[in-house]
Amino acid sequence: DLSVTWLGQTMPGCLYNASGVWCREEGELEALHASAAAAVITKSATLTPRDGNPEPRYCRTPLGSINSMGLPNRGFDYYLDYARRYRYGSGKPLFLSLSGLSLDDNCAMLRRLAEEGLPAVPEVNLSCPNVPGKPQLGYDFAATAEALEAFDAAYSGLYGVKLPPYFDPAHFAAMAEILNRHPRLAFVTCINSIGNGLVVDIDSEAVVIKPKDGLGGLGGDYVLPTALANVREFFRLLPGKDVVGCGGVKSGREAFMHILAGARAVQVGTCLYHEGPGAFSRIAGELAMLMRVKGYRSLDAFRGRLRTL
Ligand code: DHB
Repeated sequence: DLSVTWLGQTMPGCLYNASGVWCREEGELEALHASAAAAVITKSATLTPRDGNPEPRYCRTPLGSINSMGLPNRGFDYYLDYARRYRYGSGKPLFLSLSGLSLDDNCAMLRRLAEEGLPAVPEVNLSCPNVPGKPQLGYDFAATAEALEAFDAAYSGLYGVKLPPYFDPAHFAAMAEILNRHPRLAFVTCINSIGNGLVVDIDSEAVVIKPKDGLGGLGGDYVLPTALANVREFFRLLPGKDVVGCGGVKSGREAFMHILAGARAVQVGTCLYHEGPGAFSRIAGELAMLMRVKGYRSLDAFRGRLRTL
């Protein structure tokens, strides 16, 4: 049984897409909903549509991926309209990723969503690394504190935030203290891509993506240990909140690791990009088999129970 109860509802599994992957167009969102994914999250929306950065802006590598998409998206109204028509009765929650270019834009989108009174849940993105000139909010603690105060005023329901990876215990503690001030902040998704990596191609002696002279967010195998550390530390530091694991999940084994580290649900990014929505039934089957071998009948039986030495 891979079902997960959180946010006041039970969803049929623990796996869904990472925002940005297979979720920019309605057809992609519908394919996710029809797949074995247990929930659906939309591409990060800005207030108005964007074409994003010049191509090539995504590259597969032997160990994962690098991207600098630059927030290509249909604009908030498109995803809001999708949310109005979404079949919530399927038991698969709909999350709307919001990534405004300013605090005002994020608050405007949250207010619009609140007015509609839809069951869709916002995941506010504090960690887009790819818009030139816009630093990641999640690396500015004072700005994050101010933003969360404003989100509380703009939105009356439960919401979550997508965090960048942190690499120092002092940063985990500082961010957790800020997040714990907000009871309606129900979940954090850890992690966004490891920002501003550089992949080099030896044959061409060149970078592999065009924007930002080749710098881009890393996903896939590169990020699994960093993702697990962030899931583990925020699981410990945010009692009463949920952590959604994201980073390096390509089989039931990595999904199991995220849940053992404390994840309530698990998102799939790079692997979904490469394999398509069929990845969800494969990974869910592998996770179920691993649980059967270990004698676990639910995710609750091992969530967060990672042992130390
Ligand atoms: C983009 C990348 C991200 O990692 C993110 O969180 C939001 C947007 C992008 O480049 O489109």
